[in-house]
Amino acid sequence: MDIPEFREQAHKLVDWMADYLENVRQYPVKSQVQPKEILGKLPLSPPSDGESFDNIFRDFEDIIMPGMTHWQHPSFFAYFPANSSPPSVLGEMLTATLAAQCMIWQTSPAAAELEERVMQWLRDMVGLPESFTGVIQDTASTATLCSILTAREQVSDFRINEQGLSGAPNYAVYASSETHSSIEKDVKIAGMGREYLRKIDVDSSFAMNPAALEEAIERDRQNGIVPLCVVATIGTTGSTAIDPIRRIGEICKKHGVWLHVDAAFSGTALLLPEMRWMSDGVELADTFVFNPHKWMFTNFDCSAYFVKDPGALIRTFEILPEYLKTREGSRVNNYRDWGIPLGRRFRALKLWFVIRSYGVGGLQAMVRNHLAMAKSLAERIEKSDDFEMLAPMSVNLICFRYRPKGIDDDAELNRINEELLEKVNATGQLYMTHTKLNGRYTLRFVVAQTQVTREDVDRGWEVIQQVARGLEHR
Ligand SMILES: Cc1ncc(COP(=O)(O)O)c(C=O)c1O
Repeated sequence: MDIPEFREQAHKLVDWMADYLENVRQYPVKSQVQPKEILGKLPLSPPSDGESFDNIFRDFEDIIMPGMTHWQHPSFFAYFPANSSPPSVLGEMLTATLAAQCMIWQTSPAAAELEERVMQWLRDMVGLPESFTGVIQDTASTATLCSILTAREQVSDFRINEQGLSGAPNYAVYASSETHSSIEKDVKIAGMGREYLRKIDVDSSFAMNPAALEEAIERDRQNGIVPLCVVATIGTTGSTAIDPIRRIGEICKKHGVWLHVDAAFSGTALLLPEMRWMSDGVELADTFVFNPHKWMFTNFDCSAYFVKDPGALIRTFEILPEYLKTREGSRVNNYRDWGIPLGRRFRALKLWFVIRSYGVGGLQAMVRNHLAMAKSLAERIEKSDDFEMLAPMSVNLICFRYRPKGIDDDAELNRINEELLEKVNATGQLYMTHTKLNGRYTLRFVVAQTQVTREDVDRGWEVIQQVARGLEHR
């Protein structure tokens, strides 16, 4: 493809992109294809000769689009969102065009210095103390892994990096029984062993019980196991429960244990001063992560990782082969040493576009609006005769189930709600997902999509009730 053709196709694609965002409501939110349906339409071998872009694009529309779930659909109430926004998409277009590999300062000084500045903005925007320094990671999973590895190196005086784990004591990591699955994955990768992840009991609001945490730490210490790190969550995946950060932080300080705070989704609510009760005590943490790529209108991937001691992070990951040595040395940030991959995309650009385009006030207004819409729906569910809430709503995730009159058996209700979810999603009008809380099949409805309006929430609730009524009449 030569540049004149690139120009022509790019103009067409921009029109397609704007149309898509404008008309995204016309698509079923969740893709309705069957397993292997897309695969069956793709030729077994690649073409030996190049094809016209018009042909390729036709197949994109005919084959690929039906197999897409529309995360930017305003009625996407599933999982946690992976929001984008027009300024973020524009940032990604430029990042793709410049295609710079921003591993060290010299390979694009603007990328390194913009990242330094926007992470400082973001730290202040979510009310983290100035003692934190930020770096963009691809995902919260990676950020948490970086935190656990840094804790491991710190506690072993950086010996495990040199000599490996053999001969080292066993290290334990603590997180609530509601923690995200990535913590378990990270514990496995970091060499702690899954058996040494202590899943601490939660209270009736699904938040970590600090007394149980302290007992577990003391028990391990008595048994010769080194308590390494606590991962506390602001906004668990199941129900956005808020672990009590201050109490947990005090326990960590008392016992000399590293504290990582995972606020992957709910951290965006910290843009609002009135939501900062969630992070009370965060100054006691060693590291903190939240994902602008979830709720802060910034395309995946963009995970904001903040550390108190960048020196410890860098010492954990630094590798300096001859071919990467540059004269700027420690006067600049060489972000290749601040995480796992060497190569880095220019992610700060889209974040800068988003923050400047909406302004802090604009972002706060959008988040406040999401919280208000979620609250209003939760109130309706609470008042309803045949639906019930299954967890307190702390942010903007509603956990509930259908409970038709006369049915009290949890196993039966689990079956009914599973069927309800399947049928609701098959309408294509909205997309929800589920979890299990105390063994109960729980419908999750997250109000956080960039373009969601009150009408979308109302329509979603209507569809849920209609489908539920249909189930009763079978
Ligand atoms: C609380 C929490 N932590 C971590 C993650 C993992 O996020 P990522 O996909 O950025 O690794 C999630 C994902 O939903 C989450 O909800």
